[in-house]
Amino acid sequence: MKIAVLPGDGIGPEVTRESLKVLDALSLPQLTLFEGDVGGIAYKRHGHPLPSETLDMARAADAVLFGAVGDPECDSLPRQHRPEQAILGLRSELGLFANLRPAAGFPGLEDLSPLKPELARGIDLLVVRELNGDVYFGEKGERESAGGREGWDAMSYNEAEVERIAHTAFRAARKRRKKLTSVDKANVLETSRVWREVVVQIADQYPDVELDHMYVDNAAMQLVRSPGQFDVILTGNLFGDILSDQASACVGSIGLLASASLGERQTDLGTFGLYEPIHGSAPDIAGQGKANPVAAILSLAMLLRHSLGRETEAGQIERAVANTLTGDIRGADLGGTATTQEIGDAVIGNLKSIA
Ligand code: NAI
Ligand code: MG
Repeated sequence: MKIAVLPGDGIGPEVTRESLKVLDALSLPQLTLFEGDVGGIAYKRHGHPLPSETLDMARAADAVLFGAVGDPECDSLPRQHRPEQAILGLRSELGLFANLRPAAGFPGLEDLSPLKPELARGIDLLVVRELNGDVYFGEKGERESAGGREGWDAMSYNEAEVERIAHTAFRAARKRRKKLTSVDKANVLETSRVWREVVVQIADQYPDVELDHMYVDNAAMQLVRSPGQFDVILTGNLFGDILSDQASACVGSIGLLASASLGERQTDLGTFGLYEPIHGSAPDIAGQGKANPVAAILSLAMLLRHSLGRETEAGQIERAVANTLTGDIRGADLGGTATTQEIGDAVIGNLKSIA
């Protein structure tokens, strides 16, 4: 089992250190870790946010454990040298087209949600966001128009792109409550019309999964009005970016939620993927021991489940995190005083009493 560890910059290395401690506590046999530079630290050391050695290391591994990138000292650099290009580059170079973002309420944290506690308690959903297409990767530019300069971005999805992400979502729904909501804007957009037609076709292969469709504006409203109605949400890159951030905020802190980005490549152990907390490099709290490592630790659990076939250990980590959050060890983001390291240690303590 080979894991490429890319801590990045800001709080990335701080939270990654805690997930590596958790990994170490599991004492998995035949595990090799490789560590690479990415983001601001990589730009400072190698002149590029995603050096080719780092990309090769990621390609050669069974999975990538990613921290965060976004060093503000690089803010004035041209776009291709900014730290964020590293994560975009990894997603496209490694063909990671499926972003899975689970959002579930943690018992005991309902009061931290901006929603009413009874609504927060009912959240248990998975956003399946397409990650390699849509308006983010379409042609774009600026041109002259009668109204002055005009910026434009082309939005498109072809059948093959929709098919592969739809299969990912249907398979995920099969393992959950068997309900899939495809979110689009088919009343207005041609992209969404094709999207919806393809999803309907694919649904024939999953008769056990209940499929419905929702326009994105309604979905945004339903997510705060009654989030408990959702099981799996399938959507494109742009709508998924927005709705998954919204879903995570409904749970409580951004420091709690993990994500997996998967492609088609299968290894002997599972699906190759990249795993990262949904938060960024948080420069405002970097270096202060204030970052909550839970999102990073739960990303490790997803890595063990999807890429290394270690469902047992993944479940143990998730239970250890849940037990930690119901205890009195809380970070600043949850109104407590525990440091990054103390939270990591508490998770390991709980893990040892489970495993
Ligand atoms: P952010 O997620 O880094 O921070 C937003 C707020 O949440 C901040 O107040 C931060 O202190 C807090 N926060 C984030 N993670 C936390 C944690 N684990 N524990 C406690 N509090 C936490 O988003 P922001 O500020 O918009 O972006 C900062 C930089 O990160 C930017 O350069 C941005 O481009 C980059 N970024 C990188 C991502 C990635 O590496 N995948 C994703 C999102 C942003
Ligand atoms: Mg986002």
